[in-house]
Amino acid sequence: MDDPALGHPLDPAVDRARALIDAARQIFVLTGAGISAESGVPTFRDALTGLWARFDPEELATESAYRRQPTLVWQWYEHRRALVAATQPNPAHHALVQLAARKPVTLVTQNVDGLHQRAGSEHVVELHGNLFASKWLDGCGRCDTVDPVPGEPPHCALCGAMMRPGVVWFGEDLPRVARYRAEYAAEHCDLCLVVGTSGMVYPAAALPGVAKDHGAQVIVVNPQPSVLDQTADIVLAGAAGEILPRLWPQA
Ligand code: OAD
Repeated sequence: MDDPALGHPLDPAVDRARALIDAARQIFVLTGAGISAESGVPTFRDALTGLWARFDPEELATESAYRRQPTLVWQWYEHRRALVAATQPNPAHHALVQLAARKPVTLVTQNVDGLHQRAGSEHVVELHGNLFASKWLDGCGRCDTVDPVPGEPPHCALCGAMMRPGVVWFGEDLPRVARYRAEYAAEHCDLCLVVGTSGMVYPAAALPGVAKDHGAQVIVVNPQPSVLDQTADIVLAGAAGEILPRLWPQA
């Protein structure tokens, strides 16, 4: 147990991070699955446990998997929607709302869970889409749904096309506007705050390096080491819900 008289081992790094945030004029925040972990949303690596343990999410999250097994993939997304709908934003999501009230912030997330928006963050850049959105796969341009059958993808009444989840699958391009906004924010910030991402999935994982190359300081918040630690000026090795509320005053 830490001796309170000696303080917490992370205190000096937290103090340095606070000073950087205080001095920053334009902040770019990049979040990943780890920021929602304390809300109870499994991260991608943890997603291999539980109900879907037999399936590799990367195997399910592709267009070809959907064409092969639409019902299975649709039901996986229904399962994830239900799981996320039952969760609440945590102190890390709320802290970022407070940060945006104090500083110019662009919040870019790889998450599809909508928890930043439910906490009250505005203009969130969703690089990987949203779990609660759907779009047409091979639509006819005039698509209109028939009454959906539970557990089955809805079909177009006119052409028979299927709906698909409105998320980015492996091998797909990021939404153009979201990618442009994220890159612009990375290039024009003086501070980049990276929270809860393993830094394994590109192009999102390249953004902290872009910020660094354009002269920004980089702070990483993650209880585990990640490849992004190499880019970081400060690594705060703790849970987002504990660290973020300590980094700037909370209303
Ligand atoms: P990952 O599951 O790859 O990584 C989650 C990171 O969060 C890990 O580095 C954990 O150590 C960290 N973490 C866990 N608990 C945390 C906590 N309480 N506070 C802070 N950090 C914590 O998730 P992402 O990096 O978001 O893409 O994954 C990137 C992309 O890979 C996802 O958007 C998804 C996936 O395939 C698509 O679906 C296109």
